Amino acid sequence: MSVVKDGEHLIYKDPAGNTIKFFDYKGIPFPIFPGNMTKRMAKLPNFKVRPDDVYICGYVKSGTNWVWEVTNMLLSGLTENISNNKQSMMLEIKDAEELDDKPSPRVLNTHLLLPDLPKDIFAKNSRIIYLLRNPKDVCVSHFHHDLGLSGLYQYNGDWQNYFQLWLDGHVDYGSWFDYVRHWEEELKLHPNLNVHVLHYENLKLNFIEEARKLASFFGVERDKQFYERLAEKCDFKTMKAFKDDCYTEVENTFWRNNKPNFFRKGVVGDWKTHFTVAQNEQFDAILKERLRGSQLQFTYEG
Ligand code: A3P
Repeated sequence: MSVVKDGEHLIYKDPAGNTIKFFDYKGIPFPIFPGNMTKRMAKLPNFKVRPDDVYICGYVKSGTNWVWEVTNMLLSGLTENISNNKQSMMLEIKDAEELDDKPSPRVLNTHLLLPDLPKDIFAKNSRIIYLLRNPKDVCVSHFHHDLGLSGLYQYNGDWQNYFQLWLDGHVDYGSWFDYVRHWEEELKLHPNLNVHVLHYENLKLNFIEEARKLASFFGVERDKQFYERLAEKCDFKTMKAFKDDCYTEVENTFWRNNKPNFFRKGVVGDWKTHFTVAQNEQFDAILKERLRGSQLQFTYEG
């Protein structure tokens, strides 16, 4: 599998020769978001952190859009879907000046590793939600994301070939295995960090219970009726119907056929409709090797 470094870009080829192109951020492939990525990323360490900021962190396709909606509603106490999208508050997409103008409390989000987050999150003891999802569902969701966002990735491969790209970490934000191991180590190094760990599968299985835990992390109290409405408004079908229309014309053009697909299926276990038996065996062997010594555990069935 070949890798070409072209200035500030990285270009990878899948086994069939289909290319996928990224911004080279310290050797990790990042999406080439609009604007000046080099300048934006250079400014991030000194981003002005506020005491009431929330940072949602997780590898791509772990459910950030969902948790962003839940978090906004929990903080505001209002159970109306947000007529904006989480990309509007994403550290890698928006310039610091634009985020500086956003009202508090800001629900920011990112796929960065902990050492690359704004330096002040340590001093200000910022609230961080660290989001995890089982890697087989992440891999499938990631495939549809990279194929769908043709304006960003210009990728035209199929599942069989993408699978190898993903295992090799030649996808946006690099290797999932590296990402979760890195975070696990960093969280051990910073035991006092204000972090709430949330698994996609738990939110799916016990939505209200997990939402209550989040509320307690934020120090807010909401009543039974609020949680019932929250569950309705943040249900996959309701969110898809509402949020698919919350993208600007320009954002739509990044997607194949101008149709955003952040809200695709929203289930646990969709990997079973994609993985062959051989792929599953290969994945399990790599997972075993790469997570050796890790405390991480995942749920693969819905
Ligand atoms: P699928 O592609 O498996 O459907 P992210 O927001 O980090 O990009 O993650 C996207 C994944 O979260 C997608 O997974 C998407 O469908 C799922 N998702 C979004 N909103 C959801 C919701 N309300 N309930 C369950 N899953 C949701």
